[in-house]
Amino acid sequence: MKRFPKNFFWGSATSAHQIEGDNFNNDWWEAEQKGLVPHKSGKACDSYNRYEEDFDLAKAMHNNAHRFSIEWSRVEPEEGKFSDEEMEHYRKVLQALRARGLEPFVTLHHFTNPIWFAKIGGWTNKKAPEYFARYTQKIADSFGELVNYWVTINEPMVVISQGYLKGCWPPFRKKDLLGWFRASSNMAKAHKRAYKILHKKIADAKVGASRAINWYTPAHKGLLRVAESLVISPARFFKDRWFFEKTAKYHDFIGIQYYSRSKFSFTRGFFHDEREERSDFGWEIYPEGIYHVAKEIQRKYKKPIFITENGISDADDDQRPEFIKNHLIWLHKAIEEGADARGYFYWSLLDNFEWSEGFTQRFGLVEVDFETQERKMRPSGKLYGKIVENNGF
Ligand code: BGC
Repeated sequence: MKRFPKNFFWGSATSAHQIEGDNFNNDWWEAEQKGLVPHKSGKACDSYNRYEEDFDLAKAMHNNAHRFSIEWSRVEPEEGKFSDEEMEHYRKVLQALRARGLEPFVTLHHFTNPIWFAKIGGWTNKKAPEYFARYTQKIADSFGELVNYWVTINEPMVVISQGYLKGCWPPFRKKDLLGWFRASSNMAKAHKRAYKILHKKIADAKVGASRAINWYTPAHKGLLRVAESLVISPARFFKDRWFFEKTAKYHDFIGIQYYSRSKFSFTRGFFHDEREERSDFGWEIYPEGIYHVAKEIQRKYKKPIFITENGISDADDDQRPEFIKNHLIWLHKAIEEGADARGYFYWSLLDNFEWSEGFTQRFGLVEVDFETQERKMRPSGKLYGKIVENNGF
């Protein structure tokens, strides 16, 4: 029997733009209309209207927590002007979670920015931390009594590198090193300010950020392996560590988002090995990685850990049940060996708008028919529900 710690948080995660629909006021929506990204989010899962139905599904899986994001561009559609109506909406969302016994884990920034903010330079604007602090203050003042667990920024290093190095997400800058540096420095400052604001306002606040942290190994053996390892470590610094080093004192927990392993070789760079089992997305399925990552974070930061995302794109649901089980087995082993993991959030509750891939990648425990918005729990959702009910296997 593998039991998880008492009071372990079990849930799944979503983000506003990926599920709500009609997010007219953010930079992703704008990019979608201009054809700068391949797909349009449209109504997405219409969760803006169907959130109660969604939370019922989470409850049916015996979850006791749920991670979602507040859409900044909804609550502050114009600079400095907050929408009472949208604030009221998110209050209802939070109450709906509480009514179902689901502890809210609230993300303040999940990839999208209000258009007004993007127009004035977004995260490269030196006032960006101030704007983010004002938004955080508003949320803390309004929802402080309803929320203890906060994720300030989702995968800061991913959103900045997609936007300023690869140039495939807003603001579509390629190899803009200065932009990368300014944006990530401002995000780090914004995180620190949000951390302080939330703590000042909420006595029991637990504040962190979520970190995309995959596992990386050399592709070869022997001498080449040594050389490859020498590249992996500094590359990881810029891929996932930089932001967290800069803000190290300002995390009550570390949010780990683990999906896959990449191998590194000098000819291919980082890649998913075709010879290994892979998901619909082509990402290698490597459950052991969650163990290494949790242990590494534990050693380095000695702080509580939440797995704020872990999931697989698998339309047929023929890999997901094993994926979940095996990742939890390895996570359990890390806990037995001292990792202070206190919760697990599967990505995602629902099939949703997967950024550049649109609706083609299916991550949900619940299948969504995007024509009818009908939701159907997948067998893996039922399995997850059983594991949660037993707090283990
Ligand atoms: C992001 C999600 C995304 C998921 C799967 C994470 O990096 O936080 O928004 O849908 O990965 O790609």
